[in-house]
Amino acid sequence: MHHFAYRAGHLYCEDVALEAIASAIGTPVYVYSAATLERHLAVFRAAFSPRDIDIAFAVKANANVAVLATLAAAGAGADTVSAGEIARALKAGIPASRMIFSGVGKTKQELQYALGFGIGQINVESHAELEMLAELAQASGAKPQIAVRVNPDIAAGTHDKITTGAAENKFGVPVADALALYAQASQSPHLNPVGLAVHIGSQIKDLSPLRSAFLRLREMTMELRTAGYTVTRLDLGGGLGVPYQAEHDPPTPAAYAAVVENTLGDLDVLFSFEPGRLIAGNAGILLTRVIRHQPRPNRDIIVLDAGMNDLIRPAMYEAFHELIPVKEPKGAARQSFDLVGPVCETGDTFAKNRLLPPMDAGDLAVFMTAGAYGATMSSTYNGRALVPEVLVNGDQFAVVRDRIDIEQKLSHERLPPWMKAG
Ligand code: LLP
Repeated sequence: MHHFAYRAGHLYCEDVALEAIASAIGTPVYVYSAATLERHLAVFRAAFSPRDIDIAFAVKANANVAVLATLAAAGAGADTVSAGEIARALKAGIPASRMIFSGVGKTKQELQYALGFGIGQINVESHAELEMLAELAQASGAKPQIAVRVNPDIAAGTHDKITTGAAENKFGVPVADALALYAQASQSPHLNPVGLAVHIGSQIKDLSPLRSAFLRLREMTMELRTAGYTVTRLDLGGGLGVPYQAEHDPPTPAAYAAVVENTLGDLDVLFSFEPGRLIAGNAGILLTRVIRHQPRPNRDIIVLDAGMNDLIRPAMYEAFHELIPVKEPKGAARQSFDLVGPVCETGDTFAKNRLLPPMDAGDLAVFMTAGAYGATMSSTYNGRALVPEVLVNGDQFAVVRDRIDIEQKLSHERLPPWMKAG
C-alpha cells in the first residue's frame, strides 16, 4: 500500500497535489512519500512480531539523506556497500553500530574508514578480505563483528543482472570454504565472527529459493556449532519483490516471515535483514511532463522530459514501470503508445506499445514504483541535469536534492594548464 492516489481527479502524494510540485520545482523530479516509507518499515517489522529483528535498509536502493533520516527515525539501520554510503547513513543520523558493511570490493581505505567508525557488522566475502581486515583490525585495536557471506549456489529466479546467489555470481564464499573461513576468523584475536550472511538476489517473486537458501544457512549454523563455534546472528539479506504491475502479487512480508520462522526460527539467533526495494520501491514516483506527441503510422510516440539517465531500470533490466497521468483520465478510451525519453539512444525507451489514455504535450504523468534504484542510479548522460528529489510529509513538501544543473556540473571541470591562455 502506498500514499499516491487521485483526489477529485488529480493525483496526490499524501496531501500534496503533484501539480503543485511540478509548478514549484519543475520536471522531471522524484517524489517520495514519508508515510509510505514508514508504513513499509512497520509492516516488515510487524510480520516478525513478537520477535525483535534488526532492519538495515539497503542504502543502494535510495540513498537520499532525508529518506535515510526518515527511516532512521522509524528505527532502521543501514546496509552499506561503500565509504560513500556509510557517510550518507552517518549524515542521516544512523549510528555506525546499526550499520552493516557488505560488498566484494571493499578497499583497504574503506575497511579502515569502517573500522574507524565502529561499524556494527562487516560482511566478509573472501579469504583475502578476511586477511586484510584482520591486519587492519590489529593495527587499529578494534575487534569488529563480522559475518561470512555465503554463496549458497541457489538461483533466485529473477533477472540475470540482479541474481547474486548462484555459483557463477561474484558474491559470497562457496559453502565449503565458508566453514573454513569462519573457523579461521574465530581463531583470530582481532576478529569477532558473529554469524553468516546470505543475499541471493533482488525482486524475488517466489519464496522457494529463499527457503532453500535459509535451509542451507541452517545446516551451516548447526555444523559450526557442532564444531564449537559461536553463531549468534544470521543476516538474511534483502530481495523481496514488489508489485510493479497491479496484477503481480509478490509474497507478503508475513509469508516471508513465516518461511524464516519455519526454517530458522528455533536457532536462537538475532536476525538482520537488508531490504531495499520493499521499503522504498512504491514509496516513490518519477514525475515527468510530455514534451511532444509524435503521430506515427503504426503507433504514436510520446516523448517525455524524463530519460534513461533519470530512470535506467527499463533500459537496463527491461523493467516495467506503470505510467499514469496526473489528471485522472475521463472515459475508458485507450491508445497504444511508445514511451520514450529525450536521450539520443534507442535504449531510451520506457515502454513499447503501452495502452494509455490520450496524452499531449504539456501533460504531467508519473512512473510508479520508482522509489528504489531510481534516483540512486541516475546520471547526467547527454548533458542533462541531475534529477532532483522531493520528500512529502502530510501536506508539506521539500526539495531534498537539488536539480544539479549544467553550471554546477561545469564548475567541476577545467582545462589542463597547457591549454590555458597566457
Ligand atoms: N543486500 C545486498 C547484499 C544486496 O546486494 C542488495 C541488492 C540488497 C541487500 C537489497 O536488495 P533489495 O531488497 O532491494 O532487493 N538496481 C537493481 C537492483 C540491484 C540490487 C543489488 N543488491 C534494480 O533496479 O532492479
